[in-house]
Amino acid sequence: MAEALRLLLNGEEVAVAGLSPQTTLLEYLRERRRLTGTKEGCAEGDCGACTVIVAEPADDGGLDWHPINACIRLLPTLDGKAVFTVESLRLPDGGLHPVQEALVREHGAQCGFCTPGFVMSLFGLYKRAVPPSRADAEVALSGNLCRCTGYRPILAAAQTMTMLAPPDGWRGPGADAAGGRQVSAEERALALRLRRLARAGDVTYRHGAQTCHAPATLEALARCVADHPDARLLAGGTDLALRVTKQQQPLGDLIHTGRVAELQAIRRDDGGCSIGAAASLERAFAALDVDWPELREIWERFASVPIRRAGTLGGNVANASPIGDSMPALIALGAQIELRRGAATRRLALEDFYLAHPRTALQPGEFLVRILVPARAAGTVLRAYKLSRRHDQDIAAVALALRLDLDGARIVRARIGCGGVAATPRRAVAAERALAGRDWNQAAAQAAMDAIGAEFAPITDHRATADYRRRALERLVWRFWLQTDPARRGDLPLRVQDVTA
Ligand SMILES: Cc1cc2nc3c(=O)[nH]c(=O)nc-3n(C[C@H](O)[C@H](O)[C@H](O)COP(=O)(O)OP(=O)(O)OC[C@H]3O[C@@H](n4cnc5c(N)ncnc54)[C@H](O)[C@@H]3O)c2cc1C
Ligand code: FES
Ligand code: FES
Repeated sequence: MAEALRLLLNGEEVAVAGLSPQTTLLEYLRERRRLTGTKEGCAEGDCGACTVIVAEPADDGGLDWHPINACIRLLPTLDGKAVFTVESLRLPDGGLHPVQEALVREHGAQCGFCTPGFVMSLFGLYKRAVPPSRADAEVALSGNLCRCTGYRPILAAAQTMTMLAPPDGWRGPGADAAGGRQVSAEERALALRLRRLARAGDVTYRHGAQTCHAPATLEALARCVADHPDARLLAGGTDLALRVTKQQQPLGDLIHTGRVAELQAIRRDDGGCSIGAAASLERAFAALDVDWPELREIWERFASVPIRRAGTLGGNVANASPIGDSMPALIALGAQIELRRGAATRRLALEDFYLAHPRTALQPGEFLVRILVPARAAGTVLRAYKLSRRHDQDIAAVALALRLDLDGARIVRARIGCGGVAATPRRAVAAERALAGRDWNQAAAQAAMDAIGAEFAPITDHRATADYRRRALERLVWRFWLQTDPARRGDLPLRVQDVTA
């Protein structure tokens, strides 16, 4: 049955019908609801001018609040959720919210175009961390760009906003002074309304000739993908929506994976970690961090908070970009993926999924169910590197992840994943061969540098030259050696931030 989408918008229940399933939330807010406080800057998730908050029921009876980029959020993914725009932050007595008041006091706005986006990202932080540190603020604002104010006053506002009198109700802080969760009665009431709004079965949203199916179970998803092999799978839409906003492409029929609980599930046991394809990047990275804290910097530099909340690990893997950040690390970890077609499932080593860009091993009617990462073995050393022009919110020119399984000094196994140096994410098999079976020492590192430099023929593009990429691969192997040389104690401070801190 085709139905209207239902959501809470600034606390009011709305039904959305008569709009294409590829309509973005930003278009809906500005053009249909005249909520023009939310701005359009880049229309590709890069500048944060369109940031709004989405809230979903949390396990403790309250809400889970997170910022998203409205410009690349397709409407069908919001069914059953609550959306808050900057218009909703004004207090019931007409006063400014502490986030806004702090920005005014610290002179955190000039032309004001970016300000609603900053306000909403800061509101997301206000609900999560009390009081935020400068580091919390930098992470929370990594997806917001300001052309004129400069970031010092904005960061100052982030650190002073919780010192102002907290408002009542859902607009109040979500944590107490010790960082403990705080759920107001109004927030509980909103969560209850959302639970009542939630639908149990499959949802089909249709407009004209275009349909978005949103199955509720894995079985239903498998049937739906088999019945509609030409429909596109839509997870968070952080890749797919750019085809709409940047290329004006019709997406055709869509199958949204976000309602399938099995695809959201993350399970850890002695064998390793299983991550459902539709688990958000943020949850997936938190799960991987337990066994592999060496990857934290790569995950923290992956896009921005709103993208990590909306985007999924399955979307990153299935999108098959040669410069995707998760694949080099997952290849080094020996990850496998589980694919399903009808009732049949199969597993593949991740590196075997990528055939020739943009072709993958995915068959018509098949989809990605989960990513399986084996448990850590004793004696494993791992590092991952991302070289890009900007620290945050940038695409890698070169990505490299190296893992050695050591027995004493001897290298039992080497796995190396690379990005940005070939048409697909790749395993550096020649460099791995140069390492396996020998002692981990300077000569072995030199052999791996020679092998990896000869193994790839990268291209020159606007991010880097071919020569830079090849030399960067070699130098990163050397850096790995310096950081994991058993004769040195601990990591060397090899980043500018570490030396100048
Ligand atoms: C501003 C911005 C910054 C970004 N920064 C980075 C970055 O730093 N590093 C990086 O690697 N990426 C980055 N990305 C890309 C993107 O965010 C990621 O690739 C993200 O993981 C995609 O997930 P998604 O759920 O949004 O995928 P979607 O856009 O929903 O889907 C992506 C593709 O995967 C397919 N797909 C989705 N789920 C499945 C499934 N279960 N089975 C089969 N196919 C499926 C879709 O059909 C589509 O082709 C950035 C994007 C933006 C807009
Ligand atoms: S308009 Fe720039 S992130 Fe949405
Ligand atoms: S105040 Fe002008 S862009 Fe930020």
